[in-house]
Amino acid sequence: MQTEHMPHKLTRELQTTTPGMPTSDGDGVKMTRIIGTPQLNMLDPFLLLDAFESDNPDDYIGGFPSHPHRGFETVTYMLAGSMRHKDTTGSEGVIEPLGVQWMTAGRGIVHSEMPEQKEGLLKGFQLWVNLPKKAKMTEPGYQEFPASEIAEQVLDNSGLVRVIAGTTDEGTTGPVKNHFVDPVYMDIELPGGGSFEQTLRQDDNAFIYVIEGTVNVGDIQSRLPEKHLGILGKGNNVKTTAPDGARFLLVAGKPLNESVARGGPFVMNTREEILQAFSDFQNNRF
Ligand code: CO
Repeated sequence: MQTEHMPHKLTRELQTTTPGMPTSDGDGVKMTRIIGTPQLNMLDPFLLLDAFESDNPDDYIGGFPSHPHRGFETVTYMLAGSMRHKDTTGSEGVIEPLGVQWMTAGRGIVHSEMPEQKEGLLKGFQLWVNLPKKAKMTEPGYQEFPASEIAEQVLDNSGLVRVIAGTTDEGTTGPVKNHFVDPVYMDIELPGGGSFEQTLRQDDNAFIYVIEGTVNVGDIQSRLPEKHLGILGKGNNVKTTAPDGARFLLVAGKPLNESVARGGPFVMNTREEILQAFSDFQNNRF
């Protein structure tokens, strides 16, 4: 048998790393911006990644009072603590630990995101995923899943993969559906000496963000330290090991390869569309 037509495994190597930068947003919420910085403006289709983590209520109590979005999706994943969201259509809910909210802002939504606690640890992520031109003005919508509805896969090495979006090589599929960028969003916990491999589409953009510990990436096993994001080079396979144990996010998606115009909470294709968004918001046309 010839095997030359079998797809080759091309392992993705670690390309660049960034710790992000401290910033604050909303009403004084302290956080680390990891994507959406001068150093890493975007990783198409990912426009922004914020990590928030504090047990000091002064750092988060102000939350994110009423604000609009248009033209993309916001993905909130909580690790500790809870956030209440409320929008002007009357939709309301609480995202609890290990729950996820994948919100399609589409043509426009005005919402608030407030901590549902006065003390204790608040820890989680918000990722902004761009929408293609054809879907920027789509109806707003939510995909919201509590921890119990996030797919889980126990690894042979007793590690655990929480699958929010995408499918593991063993066939565990996350609940979030998105046919624009076919995202992968996994939260992976490895014990000391544990390893994890995942097939990805060759040309998707992909990153790993290390929540805890150190992750070694690729055939070269480049070291990605705690609280750093690593952009992965192209390839159809991701290989990770964690000599001392680690927890990390693996996120990937199809690049849209379209022009991006940003204006605060709006992300469109042209400057004109951004001005239109501001005008629509000011004139209550959301
Ligand atoms: Co928001």
